[in-house]
Amino acid sequence: MRILSGVQPSGGGGAHIGNYFGAIRQHVELQARGQGIYFIADYHSMTSVRDAAQRRELVRELALDYLASGLDPRRSILYRQSDLPETCELAWLLTTVTPMGLLQRATSFKEKSAAGLQPDHGLFAYPVLQAADILQFQPDLVPVGLDQKQHIEMARDIAQKFNQTYGSEVFRLPEAHILEDVAVVPGIDGRKMSKSYGNTLPMFGPEKQLRKAVMAIVTDSTPVAQAKETRQTLFQLWSLFATQDEREELFARARAGGLGYGEVKQDLAERLLRFFAPMRALRADLARRPDEIEDVLRQGAGRARELALATWTAAREAAGLGAR
Ligand code: TRP
Repeated sequence: MRILSGVQPSGGGGAHIGNYFGAIRQHVELQARGQGIYFIADYHSMTSVRDAAQRRELVRELALDYLASGLDPRRSILYRQSDLPETCELAWLLTTVTPMGLLQRATSFKEKSAAGLQPDHGLFAYPVLQAADILQFQPDLVPVGLDQKQHIEMARDIAQKFNQTYGSEVFRLPEAHILEDVAVVPGIDGRKMSKSYGNTLPMFGPEKQLRKAVMAIVTDSTPVAQAKETRQTLFQLWSLFATQDEREELFARARAGGLGYGEVKQDLAERLLRFFAPMRALRADLARRPDEIEDVLRQGAGRARELALATWTAAREAAGLGAR
């Protein structure tokens, strides 16, 4: 089974626990179920990041995040999108059969336009490039968060359109695999954890910074002696690092009164650091060997190219491009 997913580098500063529980962990686990193909979407990042040096840095960080989190380059492919420029050619083949109306319905485009952003053609064409990313590998499974469901459906529509237009079965229709919602990890202010809200708990930041962020988790002002509402952010975050039994025990104490938020925060910080300790150590170690990261990406691109080649050729052939 072929499993494909892409991650767009954006915020910087390394992955946060929302990224981890929302996507990275599932991507790592899925490696056991087939040939994983994961890529860093640096072409896509051009729709938001306009600084060359920053882009390179973001790509490097994202590669580190994934490798440190357990992506195994001997088993799975990790590549940088722009190391396969053929994907951009395929995007052109696809864009010429993509109806404008389809792209106008894209939620991400509508949202950004509505937010007053002056949209450019790259943002408009974003889903077509994403379709090319996917379709070139004929994957069985495309594991993504719910926010990407529409993009996968658009890739399906575009594939169908190409197949119809050229009377061929070049592309198989992709299937989204929506990642389970352990996913909406609240940020320290209770909104969805996101770099753009500045409310994250970083996986890899310095220990001091992490502890500080944990201590800043917003709680209500119930006095220590009184019963606590366990649906709060703090308890949700704490639960990510606890067993069912531990959870029931802590929640019982919370309801009984006498449990202070400070104690829960201290314990959360310990659990978080313990949970991520091996990954943090591995990332620090890998960060000292940048050449190795480059090797992984280069080899990944080589393997990815082999897997995509037949489809690139078939698409050109079906469209009557190039010499016979
Ligand atoms: N748009 C995706 C995101 O923002 C990233 C992405 C690009 C992707 N190409 C893809 C995801 C292909 C899955 C498949 O997260």
